[in-house]
Amino acid sequence: MRKDVRILLVGEPKVGKTSLIMSLVSEEFPDEVPLRAEEITIPADVTPERVPTHIVDYSGNTHLICESTANVICIVYSVNNKKSIEKVISFPRAVINGFNCRVPLILVGNKSDLVEHSSMETILPIMNQYQDIETCVECSAKNLKNISELFYYAQKAVLHPTGPLYCPEEKE
Ligand code: GTP
Ligand code: MG
Repeated sequence: MRKDVRILLVGEPKVGKTSLIMSLVSEEFPDEVPLRAEEITIPADVTPERVPTHIVDYSGNTHLICESTANVICIVYSVNNKKSIEKVISFPRAVINGFNCRVPLILVGNKSDLVEHSSMETILPIMNQYQDIETCVECSAKNLKNISELFYYAQKAVLHPTGPLYCPEEKE
């Protein structure tokens, strides 16, 4: 059994990474957020899988991501921002290159309150391209839609992985 889960949020600037974390913690949408949230730890007894869960707000260089930073990575984009959706594709590559072991990825389309249509049509081809992408979810930090679900999916991806979890150097 794992003793804890470490979730990292990455994504283009202003897609709502910090807001998602603050919304989860305070159960309301913060009008103003700092650039980066402090690392938070959710105690085991209030998480669905009963494992202490750390959530890390990442703003910076994907080159610095490594095994000690994350067990699962949420790649956040904004459903009303085409560029942030296109940029999603660059993260799996950067992340996969930085890791020896497979780390599950979750695609997170934030700001669903701002659009009527879903971004799935654009996202599905990306999902099909990378087997490391565990799942995708559309959510809104603003109206709290799918926020707890998102963090539950992330926990689940670590604790109950669906894909093969292997380290290339151990494969022989
Ligand atoms: P950086 O730290 O600069 O990379 O940005 P970020 O990804 O942490 O985004 P942040 O949480 O700072 O949010 C950027 C802006 O989007 C803010 O003005 C938020 O209020 C707004 N925002 C975040 N989430 C939502 C959402 O779900 N819906 C709407 N309508 N606005 C949102
Ligand atoms: Mg931020």
